[in-house]
Amino acid sequence: MTEKMLPLTDEDRSSLIDLANEARRHAYAPYSHYPVGAALRTKSGKVFTGVNVENAAYPTTMCAERTAVYKAVSEGEREFGAIAVVTDNGGSPCGSCRQVLAEFGQDTVVLIANGAGELLQETTVKDLLPGAFTPKHLVKR
Ligand code: THU
Repeated sequence: MTEKMLPLTDEDRSSLIDLANEARRHAYAPYSHYPVGAALRTKSGKVFTGVNVENAAYPTTMCAERTAVYKAVSEGEREFGAIAVVTDNGGSPCGSCRQVLAEFGQDTVVLIANGAGELLQETTVKDLLPGAFTPKHLVKR
């Protein structure tokens, strides 16, 4: 997806939501039974999916959104256009995921959908985390 491809089309939205929903099949959520799927689209048009990966040591759990971001960054991608997040009931990204998304751009579009694939909210990282602490706050040395 290039800058020119924003705003998203309805086809873009449903495609990202479907990918996030399909990814949920791989969620590892034996403790919460709350599978989460994410699909993150880079500005270059690639899509990275992610799922939550829980752990018997509960705090070690990783969320779906951060899994997707870390997969993308580790493959050399840092510019994101949109992320779809799908849960059974349309849950919203947690604070840690908002912070990690904010690191790579305030304008990333966030699509929040439920397990039926219905888009419940379309927002941005900026709106989900106003006043975020970002790289610009750190003095370069
Ligand atoms: N979870 C996510 O994957 N993303 C969020 O933004 C919120 C929570 C996961 C973590 C845990 O595996 C389960 O949902 C219940 O908290």
